[in-house]
Amino acid sequence: PLAPVLTIDGPSGSGKGTVSRLVAERLGWHMLDSGALYRAVGYAASMADIDLTDADAVTRCALAAKIRFRPSEDGSDTRVVVNGHDATDEIRTETCGAAASAVAAIPAVREALRDKQLAFRKRPGLVADGRDMGTVIFPDAPFKVFLTASAAERAKRRYKQLKEKGLSVTISGLQREIEARDERDASRPVAPLKPAEGALLVDSTGMPIDAVVAKVIALVQPD
Ligand code: C5P
Repeated sequence: PLAPVLTIDGPSGSGKGTVSRLVAERLGWHMLDSGALYRAVGYAASMADIDLTDADAVTRCALAAKIRFRPSEDGSDTRVVVNGHDATDEIRTETCGAAASAVAAIPAVREALRDKQLAFRKRPGLVADGRDMGTVIFPDAPFKVFLTASAAERAKRRYKQLKEKGLSVTISGLQREIEARDERDASRPVAPLKPAEGALLVDSTGMPIDAVVAKVIALVQPD
């Protein structure tokens, strides 16, 4: 039988990344950051000076890209290596987020990344973080969560994350960029951002991260 999957979908800055990591640690399950795959393709395409609206060229780039996740030397985080280059920090910028969102709207790119994502499903289980984990990639997942938060709160969280990485950004600029990206992700014809049927909806606005984690753990391990 296939390993169980917990899907956590939602817009950027909803806390998905942090919640997924903490829940995966608690459960001892594997983890898939699917957004990092789209970011890696956006990054690889930008590096190769590919026009992001050229679907064929971007698709060829996605098919050829060597994307690897590996633990950092001290084991404290996961590095994302794209075509032999450690792009972990570069892919986190909002510029790369926008590039990811552009390439993610190309159906053949999503198809190219599909098998890569399915391969993460291993015992004892997988926590899959993204936009279409519960709707498209793992529709049979026994556990599904849709995590949201207000746009203002999401911009604030993103601001903190990027500031910690030493990037120069403003909250208002970030909020505009995030809203534009969410709008594009939610309105695209292929795999739009939306809650999967039967997903537990969690609005994390003003909720401490531990409370969100507890809610999600309770879904997988009741009582
Ligand atoms: O989650 P993250 O912000 O890293 O994702 C970056 C972009 O990648 C999203 O804005 C979205 O366009 C795309 N994405 C996607 N499907 C996923 C994960 C991410 O389309 N499963």
